[in-house]
Amino acid sequence: MRKSGQVLVAGFVLCAMPAFSQGLLYGQTTHAKHYSNSLAPYVVSPQQIVDRMLELADLKSSETLYDLGSGDGRILITAVQRFHAKAVGIEISDALVDSTNDRIRRLGLQNQARVIHGDFMQVDLSSADVVTIYLATDSNEILRPNLEKYLRNGARVVSHDYAVPGWKAKTVDKDLPEARGHLIYLYEMPPKKK
Ligand SMILES: C[S@@+](CC[C@H](N)C(=O)[O-])C[C@H]1O[C@@H](n2cnc3c(N)ncnc32)[C@H](O)[C@@H]1O
Repeated sequence: MRKSGQVLVAGFVLCAMPAFSQGLLYGQTTHAKHYSNSLAPYVVSPQQIVDRMLELADLKSSETLYDLGSGDGRILITAVQRFHAKAVGIEISDALVDSTNDRIRRLGLQNQARVIHGDFMQVDLSSADVVTIYLATDSNEILRPNLEKYLRNGARVVSHDYAVPGWKAKTVDKDLPEARGHLIYLYEMPPKKK
C-alpha cells in the first residue's frame, strides 16, 4: 500500500513537470522566448563613436537604420534625435529590450524607433539603409552572408572596432581625438551578383 502510494506521487510529479516548466500551473498563456545565439557581450559604444559612426554612414532623414545587437539603444536614439531617421534595434537580451523600449517611450520616439526582441541572424534586414554593428570579427563573419543576402546596393554597414572579413572597407576611421584606440569601419554594399 505504501509502495503504490509512492508510485502515485512520483507519477503525479512527473506528469506535472512539463506543465510547470511551461508556466501552465500558474495559468500563464504566453511564454517568454529564450534565445541562445549570443554573438557578442553587452558593451556600449561611447557616444562620440556613435556620433561618428552615423556621420560616416551619412545617415539621411529619409532612411532606416538597423542596429544589430542594440544594447541600451543609444545608436537608435541618436539616429532619431540627431539625424531624424527611423531606427530599428534587434536585441537578444529581454532586459535590454525592455529598458530600451521604456526609454523610447519616455522620450516620445515610438513612431521613429523600436526594438525587436530576437536573434538578428533570424531577421529580414531588407528595409535597412544603414546597419550598425559592434560585435566581434568571428561574429561579423557569421553575419556577412545575411548582410549580402538582404542589403540593397548602396546600403552602408558601419562596424565599431571589428572588420568584416572578406570585405574591403571604404573608410577606416582611427585615432579619433575623443576616443583613442577605437576603429570604425565603413562599408558600402555593391550591386548584387547575378
Ligand atoms: C557590444 S554590444 C553593442 C551594443 C550597441 N550596439 C552599442 O554599440 O552600444 C552587443 C549587443 O549585441 C547583443 N547580441 C549578441 N548576440 C545577439 C544576437 N544573435 N541577436 C541579437 N542581439 C545580440 C548583446 O546582447 C549586446 O547587447
